[in-house]
Amino acid sequence: MKELFDSYRSNYRDVVQSSINFSGLPHSFFMRAKADLLRELIAQRLGPQKPAMLDVGCGVGSFHPLLRGMVSHLTGIDVSPASIAQARADNRDVAYYAFGGSNLPFDAASFDLVTAICVLHHVVPANWPHFMSEMRRVVRPGGLVCVIEHNPLNPLTRLAVARCEFDRDAVLLGASKARKLMASSGLHEIGTRYFLLLPSEAEPARRVDTTLSNVPLGAQYAAFGTA
Ligand SMILES: C[S@@+](CC[C@H](N)C(=O)[O-])C[C@H]1O[C@@H](n2cnc3c(N)ncnc32)[C@H](O)[C@@H]1O
Repeated sequence: MKELFDSYRSNYRDVVQSSINFSGLPHSFFMRAKADLLRELIAQRLGPQKPAMLDVGCGVGSFHPLLRGMVSHLTGIDVSPASIAQARADNRDVAYYAFGGSNLPFDAASFDLVTAICVLHHVVPANWPHFMSEMRRVVRPGGLVCVIEHNPLNPLTRLAVARCEFDRDAVLLGASKARKLMASSGLHEIGTRYFLLLPSEAEPARRVDTTLSNVPLGAQYAAFGTA
């Protein structure tokens, strides 16, 4: 079956950029903010060892160059074969797989860190519990599951989603729903961090953003839990 994101193999970044042009910031700024947050979470929750990471719904792998040096081994998986082909062409050092979207083709406890970045809002809500339980299954005991999502409480996020052509069928989920899904899947020590409250690359703005990470207004949030 042809997947929605197959059509965005060559212009994924341009489509995202056109939906956020009103912010005056490049897509790379938002990607760096996610990478910085992930780096902090790895240090705080997994310690100094570089983790083996699985990125579920990795798309064309545009986030993956930012993870070099941060993880020991990176695997990406997606339902869109065309996106995976592009990701493979762009990131020769990453292991990529296409799959049917239900069961992850990995043994239990295969990874230290499993992420899904802006993926759940493209999954049918009835399938969210299974999606989360699969992430939970393939992470090792003590490992970390992290979901990064659009924050529906932020009006500019809603504007960006409304302007993004591939978000037409998106169903946004708030952080409390993400936390509930994590708890139901058996994860514990569940936390949330909001980020991208201030749309600025300036260092003081970045510091304010970090200080206000408990305020549920950032454009995106990370929900994470330990297996
Ligand atoms: C908005 S893109 C995000 C891509 C990437 N994570 C990023 O942040 O650049 C959403 C991705 O989720 C994928 N996707 C949708 N449903 C999925 C599922 N059930 N399992 C894995 N990937 C899925 C889509 O094919 C698409 O590549």
